[in-house]
Amino acid sequence: MHDRSGAALDSRAQQDLALDPFRIAGEPYYRPVAHEVALFEAAHRSRMPVMLKGPTGCGKTRFVEHMAWKLGRPLITVSCHEDMTASDLVGRYLLDAVGTVWHDGPLTLAVRSGAICYLDEIVEARQDTTVVIHSLTDDRRILPLEKKNEVLKAHPDFHLVISYNPGYQSVLKDLKESTKQRFGAIAFSYPVAAIEAEIVAAEARVDRRTAATLVNIGARSRNLKGHGLEEGASTRMLINAGLLVGNGIALAEACDVALVLPITDDPDIRDALRAAIAACV
Ligand SMILES: Nc1ncnc2c1ncn2[C@@H]1O[C@H](COP(=O)(O)OP(=O)(O)O)[C@@H](O)[C@H]1O
Ligand SMILES: [Mg+2]
Repeated sequence: MHDRSGAALDSRAQQDLALDPFRIAGEPYYRPVAHEVALFEAAHRSRMPVMLKGPTGCGKTRFVEHMAWKLGRPLITVSCHEDMTASDLVGRYLLDAVGTVWHDGPLTLAVRSGAICYLDEIVEARQDTTVVIHSLTDDRRILPLEKKNEVLKAHPDFHLVISYNPGYQSVLKDLKESTKQRFGAIAFSYPVAAIEAEIVAAEARVDRRTAATLVNIGARSRNLKGHGLEEGASTRMLINAGLLVGNGIALAEACDVALVLPITDDPDIRDALRAAIAACV
């Protein structure tokens, strides 16, 4: 690789360049809910692998973006899915004009150059894929690149973060005990009403009264959890409803589109939710 003056870049400069797309320029808005910022900073200082644990749409991804910005670290995010292989994370040889060339996967790039690597919704990945993180999450901090016959020692700034939604647990989709036990966990849940209203107002740009009504609706939907609903409406859903309101849709209809219809196919539960919404507006 060459810089503009044509001089060859040393490997350090090459790594910095590779991380450029992963640097977070502006502060991502995050409203702290409890002690999570200080906990993450402490875990980051000791490079303790961190698990962000909580229901969908409660702020885990936004939090890690905010923390990466605050700590001045690049953030490499991988959305995990069932078909993801270890090679998708680690890297592979690809054919090009000059022959086969090794391409680092996102995990390897983070390990080599010292980024925060965020494996989002890790339970979506198969267990035989997630075991590649094991040697990185104990005191060895190494990543074996088997196909390349190389053992990569993690950069001192490399930090591994995963998110995990305990609600989706099933025997087939869960982390191995040996994987879980490598992480410190920070618990996330929906914030108390006043803070959640502040977040909805800020993100959907609606007034505080509308935000408070949406949060009230969210709380009622969460009471239906276990009574026909797997999860109540998330903060994300309340923000979506707020965005529709901001674009001229009446609140009841906005809630229908943003939360009632997506969350359940059961007509009785829909009626119960619609009744709860009608009582709030
Ligand atoms: N504490 C918070 N501060 C700021 N925004 C938040 C917060 N919690 C939730 N949000 C909002 O909710 C949305 C969903 O959060 P996200 O981080 O994507 O959830 P998760 O990763 O837990 O599924 C975010 O895009 C953001 O708008
Ligand atoms: Mg997320």
